[in-house]
Amino acid sequence: MAAPNIETIVSLSKRRGFVFPASDIYGGLGSSWDYGSLGAELANNIKQSWWRWLVHERDDIEGLDSSIIQNRLVWKYSGHETTFSDPLVDCRNCKARLRQDKLELKRSESGITIGESKPEYVCPNCGSSDFTEPRDFNLMFRTTVGAASSDEDESALAYLRPETAQGIFINFKNVLDSSRRKLPFGIAQIGKAFRNEITPGNFIFRTREFEQMEMEYFCRPEDAPRIHQEFIDEFQKWFYSLGISAANLKLYEQTAEELAHYAARTVDILYRFFPERDDEKRQFDELMGIANRTDFDLKTHSKKPEDSEGRRLNPDSQEDLSYFDEATKQRFYPYVIEPAVGVNRTLLAILMDAYTEKTNEKGETRVILKLKSELAPVKVAVLPLAKNKPEIVAMAKDLKRQLLPAMRTVYDDTGGIGKLYARQDEIGTPFCVTVDHESLEDNRVTVRDRDTWEQERIAIADLKEYLMRKLYV
Ligand code: GAP
Repeated sequence: MAAPNIETIVSLSKRRGFVFPASDIYGGLGSSWDYGSLGAELANNIKQSWWRWLVHERDDIEGLDSSIIQNRLVWKYSGHETTFSDPLVDCRNCKARLRQDKLELKRSESGITIGESKPEYVCPNCGSSDFTEPRDFNLMFRTTVGAASSDEDESALAYLRPETAQGIFINFKNVLDSSRRKLPFGIAQIGKAFRNEITPGNFIFRTREFEQMEMEYFCRPEDAPRIHQEFIDEFQKWFYSLGISAANLKLYEQTAEELAHYAARTVDILYRFFPERDDEKRQFDELMGIANRTDFDLKTHSKKPEDSEGRRLNPDSQEDLSYFDEATKQRFYPYVIEPAVGVNRTLLAILMDAYTEKTNEKGETRVILKLKSELAPVKVAVLPLAKNKPEIVAMAKDLKRQLLPAMRTVYDDTGGIGKLYARQDEIGTPFCVTVDHESLEDNRVTVRDRDTWEQERIAIADLKEYLMRKLYV
């Protein structure tokens, strides 16, 4: 089977209730998406997996949940007010507004790039190469704070955070003092971020509102390169544990020109989001970034240091975010290693990787979403073979109630058994439990495996333990 493209996932998502276009009844709102019952559940399971793995299972990471709207000065000193922009161009022919750095270069028929000294680009809408000069477009969403504010009132200006990371840096001292941590340690946070992207698109790949899972790991400068590499290795393994195949992941080392102003080294983990593209390189795009942010952030938000002439470089901050090492009696600014991953892109990669098709004995093709049990929105579906037989229905509903506290279980009687199985396969439910006429006699039920379609008769008394073992061991 050919790898599914994003369009296949868009259609599955809408059909089964993972993701819907936002504001749809009013014509939508460019590249905004709402998560339905299954999508919300899957996103929650991804976030829980990340949080459990980093905050609970390791012993060196604290959790945090900081505000979306912070003092504007946070974004002044982080550098976002001046540098968080993309090069915006207008196509003079069709008036499309586009990101210059995402445009294809114009090529001659022999494939040679035209305009070597000053590259020429091609408009994806109309094919023209007539663009305005690029200008910096800041991606932060602006808002105003307070009842008396007006849109023109600069003193009330605030931003919706474009990354969750800054909330972590400005809380560094709070967490350090309250947790009594020593280096190295990390602070993890999951939350919404907002960017007024010039060209959002490709379903939930690039949107203006999205969710990030970011962790800032504070360490001694000399340990930073080693720890950076460890997180690059660990995060690949985490993606494998979520069911993403190694063949669809790739590392990308950012070049000096691509590095953000704060980074010494950044490695992106790319996923094959666009398998339909001919050029293998273009099939991959960023799933997450893992950066060595140096001591840039803690320094920039500190009331120190002073420059050689004694001027305070940050006259607005009221804190020094340096660290005092009791052992060496030295004070310094820790380096930061930052693994930053999008919830939405992870969800898309997981859906793409889990999507398979299988043909049944009647020659009908069925979709099976081979989600890891940990991530599956529904773990078990209990199905009555005959919904007009009250004893069967009662037994099935009772089974659902028994299983529910241990695993997310649903009851479904809205179709014939073949349809019910197909629906559960398509939403990734690992097991279906069917109650039939014989169950009333022998207290046994049929357990059907999503991936193999094999069926086993299991005694009701053993059912919970059997499923727990299959799901979680
Ligand atoms: N604090 C560093 C930072 O924000 P980033 O590479 O800009 O780094 C991290 O963002 C991750 O957030 C990306 O790898 C991607 O998964 C996700 N992300 C960024 N912009 C996004 C957008 N417009 N839509 C969806 N996800 C996005």
